[in-house]
Amino acid sequence: MIELHQVSRRFEVGGQVVHALREVDLVVARGDYVSLMGPSGSGKSTLLNVLGLLDRPSSGRYLFDGEDVTALDDDQQALVRRVRIGFVFQSFQLVPRLTTEQNVALPLVLAEVPLAERRERTAAQLQAFGLADRGHHLPDQLSGGQRQRAAIARATITRPDLLLADEPTGNLDKHTGDDVVQALEKLHDDGLTLIVVTHDQALGARAVRRLRMDDGRLEEGAA
Ligand SMILES: Nc1ncnc2c1ncn2[C@@H]1O[C@H](COP(=O)(O)OP(=O)(O)O)[C@@H](O)[C@H]1O
Ligand SMILES: [Mg+2]
Repeated sequence: MIELHQVSRRFEVGGQVVHALREVDLVVARGDYVSLMGPSGSGKSTLLNVLGLLDRPSSGRYLFDGEDVTALDDDQQALVRRVRIGFVFQSFQLVPRLTTEQNVALPLVLAEVPLAERRERTAAQLQAFGLADRGHHLPDQLSGGQRQRAAIARATITRPDLLLADEPTGNLDKHTGDDVVQALEKLHDDGLTLIVVTHDQALGARAVRRLRMDDGRLEEGAA
């Protein structure tokens, strides 16, 4: 479902060029479970941002389900992102002034799903992620694990094909992190394509396929 051909991403900072991605080739099939590891600064987040259409390559081609998404304008990309791709971050990124329920429902509001259906799907999603009794809590009234489960619930409420997680357990203790990993793996069992960036060897090793970044280059295998 994903094909990268010779994708590079360069940043210019104060006259200096940083090569965050160097001619990356990658094919990910529907239903894959991929972990991405590598040292800090090696380009993992940049790669995830490109895959999630949050950033554009400097050169190269990105095919999503056979379509060249690098050729789409920003609005067209936003539509693909909103409907087909979910994103989870280390820092949860919940909207602080919205309740858990409102946060989880947000993508459906943006997609203009009617209220009754929105309520029903949000309730089911809260239930599925063990948050049924936390719907009216604000994010800062939740534990770290609950916040990340809420973020995953929000990222998947539109039933995307692809979920990208950038260090999803990075701010969590081991026990809570395991809960979050279980929630992600359950989604993968249900058919979601999952790509997880992690520093955690144990988590990285759980993936069916392991990738490694080093100085902007992508290598297969060896977690
Ligand atoms: N927006 C940006 N502007 C300039 N440089 C950036 C930007 N984003 C990332 N970089 C640089 O690109 C390299 C890769 O960063 P990143 O993808 O965040 O690495 P990782 O997620 O593996 O820690 C780093 O050298 C970083 O400083
Ligand atoms: Mg990163």
